[in-house]
Formats: sequence, structure tokens, C-alpha cells
Amino acid sequence: RVFRLEDYRPSPFRIPESHLTFELEPDATVVRAKLLFERADDTRADAPLVLDGDELELIEARLDGALLGADAFTAAPDRFELKAPPASGRFTLELVTRIVPSRNTTLMGLYRSGGNYCTQCEAEGFRRITYYLDRPDVLSVYTVRIEAKKSEAPLLLSNGNPVENGDLGGGRHYAVWHDPFPKPSYLFALVAGDLGVVRDRFTTMSGRPVELGIYVEHGKENRAGYAMDALRRSMRWDEEVFGREYDLDVFNIVAVSDFNMGAMENKGLNIFNDKYVLADEETATDTDFANIEAIIAHEYFHNWTGNRITCRDWFQLCLKEGLTVYRDHEFSADQRSRAVERIADVRTLRAHQFPEDQGPLAHPVRPRRYREINNFYTATVYEKGSEVVRMIRTILGPDDFRLGMDLYFARHDGDAATIEDFITVFEEVSGRDLSQFALWYHQAGTPSIAVTSNHDPKRGELVVEIEQSVPPTPGETRKRLMHIPLAFGLVGTDGRDVTYRSAEGATVENGVIHLRKRRHVIRFSGLNERPALSLNRGFSAPVTLTLEQKREDQLFLARNDSDPFSRWQAFTKLVSDALIDGSRRSRGQKPLEWPADLLQLAGDIATDGKLEAAFRALTLSLPSEADIAREIGSNIDPDTVHAARNGLVFAIAQANGERLAPVYDSLADMGPFSPDAASAGRRALRNTLLDYLATLPGGKERAAAHFTSASNMTDRAAGLSVLAHRHSGTEQAEQALEAFEARFGDNPLAMDKWFTIQAMVPGASTVDRVRALTAHPAYSGNNPNRVRALVGSFASGNQTGFHRPDGAGYRLLADVVIDLQQKNPQLAARLATALRSWRSVEPQRQAKAREALLHIAAVENLSTDVRDIVERTLA
Ligand code: ARG
Ligand code: ZN
Repeated sequence: RVFRLEDYRPSPFRIPESHLTFELEPDATVVRAKLLFERADDTRADAPLVLDGDELELIEARLDGALLGADAFTAAPDRFELKAPPASGRFTLELVTRIVPSRNTTLMGLYRSGGNYCTQCEAEGFRRITYYLDRPDVLSVYTVRIEAKKSEAPLLLSNGNPVENGDLGGGRHYAVWHDPFPKPSYLFALVAGDLGVVRDRFTTMSGRPVELGIYVEHGKENRAGYAMDALRRSMRWDEEVFGREYDLDVFNIVAVSDFNMGAMENKGLNIFNDKYVLADEETATDTDFANIEAIIAHEYFHNWTGNRITCRDWFQLCLKEGLTVYRDHEFSADQRSRAVERIADVRTLRAHQFPEDQGPLAHPVRPRRYREINNFYTATVYEKGSEVVRMIRTILGPDDFRLGMDLYFARHDGDAATIEDFITVFEEVSGRDLSQFALWYHQAGTPSIAVTSNHDPKRGELVVEIEQSVPPTPGETRKRLMHIPLAFGLVGTDGRDVTYRSAEGATVENGVIHLRKRRHVIRFSGLNERPALSLNRGFSAPVTLTLEQKREDQLFLARNDSDPFSRWQAFTKLVSDALIDGSRRSRGQKPLEWPADLLQLAGDIATDGKLEAAFRALTLSLPSEADIAREIGSNIDPDTVHAARNGLVFAIAQANGERLAPVYDSLADMGPFSPDAASAGRRALRNTLLDYLATLPGGKERAAAHFTSASNMTDRAAGLSVLAHRHSGTEQAEQALEAFEARFGDNPLAMDKWFTIQAMVPGASTVDRVRALTAHPAYSGNNPNRVRALVGSFASGNQTGFHRPDGAGYRLLADVVIDLQQKNPQLAARLATALRSWRSVEPQRQAKAREALLHIAAVENLSTDVRDIVERTLA
């Protein structure tokens, strides 16, 4: 079944009130739903009421208190129909259903994790709990009563504020929760079980006290402190930057160990993958700390962008997700280093969204059709969706952007809104026409921009020619011209931007060129000396840029641009070009040679104490093999890419070793651990340098000492990874892996790092290692974090292993997908997307990848989730 945007119709019924009672039992939970219905559409007064369900068993149905006879309704596991709703159009329907949380392996609806009850309802999980109008534009006020055995579930949580609780006798008790804010069913949540808690308090800007609670497994309370701190900072930041205040008496977060995604923004009761809550220096890396900060913020920010204002339908998913990602990026930029955050975010965008946009799964930020909505929680909806919001701010400027956001909150509070509603507020406050800009929401594909420039010293003019094109994507062969805001600078010999007299040929304002036509010829006048052109500063538009630029200009910008993001961009471009060239040459037998000025530049950046350590680390951690493969684009041989990248790392180390070692040494003693950005940056730099130094004589011993002497997980995992990847199979590498396992064998989240590091060992034999590790006692094919740590990182991160020429890597992935596809369709579908770029590898591997895809497609009873991904990938 295909769902289409243009088929949207308002619901014929509303549900102003929902009263739910849960009698919790692992093997037979009874759900009593008392729902107040109102007919919304009088023109269809005789239309039946049809509710969504999914694997439900109806026990009893009552209409306005009276038991319904079997002829008054039809009930199937996936559908309930009341044939003739009362003519008055206002009635109460009571539905009693039975569900089995203990057998729910999909992790959607009500399920068990670590002996506790928890829920996940977005996008369509609520229909696995009770029959309902399970669509985001049906908003209801919920009152929830939970009953459970006291010994099993002393803790009973739901959305909103606690109302009452008490004893039921027989060892059972109850609690009642009421959420005064009308919400769609996907924001419903329930948690019951035996958990430890960390509490804090927050006073909002208007003086409202809020009780904060973070619930974790007993004994893990001391690992929740950083999450709590991040929550308090998020709440304050949203008040200061967006004027948004929290609105309930309590805000609770629960960490669970079985979760399909990162976390979920249920009103007043966020549920998190424990990976994004639990952290201390012993077990979590700096990346984990940064992710926790970002995801805690993300889910909290959804309270306004997602919950108070929700989506009319699932086509509008980016309305809440793109905007909320934009908000969490800005939060992290304010909490940390803006330039470093931007570089990291752009790297993520290019690594995840660009291949999606350039492959068979490409879709617009606001899709027009889907078969399975779960498959649209994508990098395009989230990350590109965030970039589109960022571009609106670039076009409007900060003041009008804020006015637009204020208007959005004021006008649409309580609404289920659309992308059109969102764009309209910005048009109104700024008086600008954003209709061409709106194509960013509607048209898939990464626009590409080709630029040439020419300086005429006699006329004192710089002439810049820019041409845009949008490549065809599945189902969209003809594309329209986009409005692309390109931030730029004209950089003079001292590294500072020079000013020009006038610019003709395009609208150029506040350092931004507005491309609207296919081709612009822009004349900058008043420039007697030729400046270096710094384009797409801060990645103002998510495009691919082909800039015919003198190499000397690139080297100059990498050393001198006043915008650190542009320095990174210029350096990375030089490195990518060298690596693409190197990949081609590494097919021959001759040892690779690298440009001496590039090796020198890398060493200069590594040792430049005036630059932030985190910036140096990011710059030196060269584009990944997947990045280079993507840039090459077609007929890829991952082995040559690997050889080239390794060759360049070795060459940089050799050319600069004597300069790098002292910097590495100087970063060794940092005193007591702190997760702050500056300290993390110094660790990142030291660990990046280790990767270079490990390729030099004595490098293996250095890496082993680094691992052994590490006093935190960041350094320990880095040491282990360098040993396992640069000195795979050596005694030192094997001993370190054993030591890690011995120490962290009982800590699943730490063991995930151990699985990932081994899954990423380059080379042909890793497939067998990964297969063997699926039998390790710490592994579980039922836990999404384990599966992603081992199989997910192998398939999407290990180019030489996954793309083994004989197809064994693809086959491994297919086996895991097939094993999972009924148990957990969402996780299986997500894994299967690792094959999406199969057409860009060389023909022999392509044939093997296709075989693996067909192997999955041939499975009987393939879940819709997996079928949708596989069929679109093969199309
Ligand atoms: N809304 C959640 C977030 O972005 C993601 C939930 C996705 N869940 C799903 N089953 N697709 O924070
Ligand atoms: Zn989100």
C-alpha cells in the first residue's frame, strides 16, 4: 500500500478525551480505552468509524456504556469498525484489548526491556496498544491509570503530571497521570518497573518549578549526572535563544537498553536509548558525551517543535525533525566551539545524507509518497531538513528569523501544522517570496554548482561564473532551478576579506550570493588585486561545489582564510583531490608519491598552537574511505581507496614525525578528567596524532603504551582502535583486545566499542571475525545497540571488509537482515540501507551486491519495512 501526500483528508472524527487503564502483566496486559468521540465532518454523517490496530485482540466493546453486539462492529487485529456511530456524532466508546508485551520483539508499542515495561509509539506504535485514530492530526487530552504488581513495578510513569497513586491490595498498586496538553497518539508513553533515579529541580524563566527525574537501572545512577546537566542547560538555552519555556510540573527521562532509535520526545516522559544517557569517563568516550548533550537537547527541544506544534501528517515529519535538529546543532555550537561543531555537522551530512540523496533511496526533505513511514526517519529528513532551516536564517538574517519563529510559535501552538505553514511565517515577517526557496523541501537530489572565476586587473574586476544543476533522482527526472544562498568571501593577501565596490549579475547581500537562475555571471568591481575566492562558507548551502581554482589559492585559503570552516574546507578539498588521484595511481605497482606542500601543510596545522586542538584534530582526521569513495562516485575499488588513504597517512607521518611526536607528548598529562569541549579537543588531537605516529618505527609500542596507560575510555578506545587497525594480528593488538574484554565484559555499552573496533579492522578476513563475534556471549542479535555496533558498523564503516570482492560481506549482511526482518523489521530495514550505494562499486562487486539484495527479496513473508528498502534499492 502506498500513501500519498495529495490523499490527505482531515479525520472525520476527533477524540477530545482519552482515558486509558493498563492492567500490566508481561504475558497478558489488559488495556481499557475509554474514548470520547466527536464527529468532525457533518457532511459524512453516516460514515462508519474506523480505527487503526496492529496485532490487537479485542475482548469487549461498549458504546455509551452499553455492551455492543457482534453485529454492531467488526474487529480484526489491525482494524476496528463501528458500523453505525450514533447520529448525534458525540459518543463514548470503550474498548478492552489484550496485548502481550513479553512477546513484542519489534520494540514498537508496549514492550519489555531489562525486565521493565516501556513504549515506543512514533510513528505508528500506538495502534499496537489499543484501537485508535493513530494519526498525528488527532489531538487528545490523556488520562492514564496504570496498575501493576508492586514488587515488579514499584515505578509507574506516564505523560503529563502525576495525579494520584495508591494501593490495590493483593500486592498490586496504581498511579494516575494526566496530561493537560492535547497530543497525538505517537507522543503517548508509559514506563513501569523497578528503576533507580537521579533527581534535580529547574525553575523556569517565569518562576515555575519543575521536578526533573532521570530513571536508569539500579546501580547506574552515578552515570546519569552528565545527562542531567545537559538537560538543565538545554532548558535554559531554549528560554534564552528561542524564548521557549517548559510547561509541566515534571520532566522525566527514562533510559532503556532495547531501543530502535536514539530517543523519543514523548510529552513530559522522554524515553532514551541508554547509550545516550549513561556516561562516565571510565566507560564513555568524548563522542558519547557530546552525543548525550545533543540528544538530550534534541528531545527536550521537541517539547515546542514537535509536541506543542506537531505535524499534520507524516509527510510533514521534517517540520519537527529538521527544525529540532537545527535547534540542537545551534545549542551544541553555543555550548562548545561553533566552528568545530559546524565542521562535525557538515562531515555527518556529507557522510550520511549525500550518499542517500545521490542513490536509489533519494527522496525530498518532504516526501510525497511512502510505503512504510519508518523508512523515512532519514538523514534527508533530519540533517538536510536542518540545513534548509539554516538557509532560511541565512536568507532572512537573525532578526527576521527570530521574528518568524516567534510568529510560528504564537500562531500554531496547539496545531498539527504543515511545511507551508512554516514557510508562510517567514514570508510574512520578512516580506520575502520564498516560493522558489521552498523547492528545497520538495525536490530531491544534491544540487551541484560549477564555478569559474577570472580577474581583469585593467578593469579591476573579478568575474565569477556560477552554474547550478540538480541531478535526476528516482521519480523526478526533470528538476526546477533552486534558490541557493552561497556565503562567500574575497580573501586578500593578508587573509582578511577585501571589500568590493559593487556586484552585478546576482543579488549579493551580507556576504551571500543568491543564485536563482541556471547561470549567473557576477562582476565584482573595485578589485585591483586578484583575491582568492572563498565559497560556500560555513556550508551555507548543502551542495556539491566544483570550483576551478588555482592550487596556490587553495593552499592559501587553507592557511589563511579568516573563516576556520573555510580553512578546513580548503584543506579537505586538497586532501580529497590527492586521495582520488592516489586511488587511481595505486592500481599500478609504483609506490605513491604525494605533493610535498600538502604534507608540509598537514604538519603545520598539526603543530599550530594558535588553532583550537579540536579543529586540528578534525582537520587531520582525513576524509574517510567512504568519503573518498563517494567523491570518486562510480566504478569504485575500495582496496585502492584504502591503499591511497593509508599511503597518505604514512607520508604525512614520515614527513612530519619529528614535529608531531612532541605535540603528542605535550598533550599527555591533562590532570583530572573533564568532559568539556576544550579538554575533549586536546584528547582528540592527541589520539589523532597517535594514529599517524603508529605508522612510524616504534609506533606499535607507542600505541600499546597509550592503551595501557589510558585513564579514560576516550584514550583507551583510541589506543585499542589504532592497535587493531594499524597493527592487526600482532601480539600487542590481541593482548589489548583481551584486556579490554576482561575489564568491560559485563558492561554492554563498553563492549559495543570492542565489537565496533573489531568490525572495522580493514581487510578481507574481518567478515569471518564479525561472523564469529555474533556468537560471543556479550553479543545479542535481539539488541539493536549490539547489532549496530557489530554488523552496522561493519557494513557502513568497513570499506575493504564489507566490499570483499567475493561478496562474503554482502552475504553476511543479508543473513543478518533476513534473521531480523520479522523480529525487528525497523532495525532490519535500517541495516539493509547499507547496500544502497551498490551501483557505484566496480562491476564484479556490483554483481555480488545485487545477488545479496535479490537473496533478501526472495524471502517469503518479507516485512514491509525491508521489502520497501530492498525494492527501491534494486529499482
Ligand atoms: N522522534 C524521534 C526523534 O527524532 C525519533 C523516533 C523515531 N522512531 C521510529 N520508530 N521511527 O527524536
Ligand atoms: Zn527528533
